[in-house]
Amino acid sequence: MKFIKCKELKDKKTDLAFGKNFTDYMFVLEYHNGAWDYENACIKPYEPFSLDPSTSVFHYGQAVFEGLKAYKNDKGEVRIFRPMDNMNRMIDSCERVCIPPFDTKFVHDALVELVKLEKDWIPTAPGTSLYIRPFAMGVDKALGVHAAKNYILSIILSPVGAYYTHGLAPVSLCVEEHYKRACIGGTGHHKVAGNYAASILAADLAEKKGYDQVLWLDAQENKYMEEVGSMNIFFVIDGVVITPMLAGSILPGITRRSTIELLKARGYKIEERRVSVAEVVAAADNGTLNEIFGTGTAAVVSPVGTFGYLGKDYQVGDGGMGKITKYVYDELTGIQTGIKPDEFGWVEKVI
Ligand code: COI
Repeated sequence: MKFIKCKELKDKKTDLAFGKNFTDYMFVLEYHNGAWDYENACIKPYEPFSLDPSTSVFHYGQAVFEGLKAYKNDKGEVRIFRPMDNMNRMIDSCERVCIPPFDTKFVHDALVELVKLEKDWIPTAPGTSLYIRPFAMGVDKALGVHAAKNYILSIILSPVGAYYTHGLAPVSLCVEEHYKRACIGGTGHHKVAGNYAASILAADLAEKKGYDQVLWLDAQENKYMEEVGSMNIFFVIDGVVITPMLAGSILPGITRRSTIELLKARGYKIEERRVSVAEVVAAADNGTLNEIFGTGTAAVVSPVGTFGYLGKDYQVGDGGMGKITKYVYDELTGIQTGIKPDEFGWVEKVI
């Protein structure tokens, strides 16, 4: 792989607001003449892309992305959480929007090399990490809707703290009654950029009403819980952990899968099934809605304190972080940072 050295390095004392600051280097791999050009793949100084105004991604959004994290402990050891899972999901997303498949091992190894190069950027305080953002997009210089013939796949890195500005404090969710994020047969099951564009208006309206995020309902019946703006969702009703099953319109989150695997292994009752808003409202009304939490790479494990539906607000449990939420948070972050043993083989120690 090619390497172009920075002339000057940035000041690393940046704030850790999510996704606002980026490290010195980036990875770039291009696709042209029918193939990914691995020979000219490059780690180079972080810089803007120079793209023609006609570039296809600007007009038709042929783009996918991923999010994963690297963690550094006080001894300087660096761990990345389930990176091959992200590579495999990215391949699935690419397939859905006709971006040619890439060599996952090559891109994984480039990602590891980039993280190692940028190890001094990884914060070590609890709740902090280096967010890794791989992405790919069609870059043909032409109008006309079809799969592009040229692509850029890139990886950038951003040192981060909590995703929500209020940290681990419980978030409030607004169950969206009108707008839909995804439908079966659409792209909601993949990490496609357009899914997020489709979500922004409802998120904006929810925020104006005082909520942190939108809780999406299914597009067919407008009844079943799907996911939240930036995370998958779990409900604890009468001691049973329930999460919407992956039926074609929900993102198969890697933190979601890790949470299910962890709770199953530790003997919790956990169900992947359809969960209706009526069931959750009834549980809130009869006092059996113990907890709600969201999971995601950026959001980690976030407690939900309240949700609003049809103009009424419902408190979740006692409104604070529930026991199972805290357990999942402590266990997952413990494994990710190397404080707890990695019995599932999820972590790649790269330094
Ligand atoms: C992530 O959790 O990594 C995501 O990609 C969500 C994003 C909307 C911040």
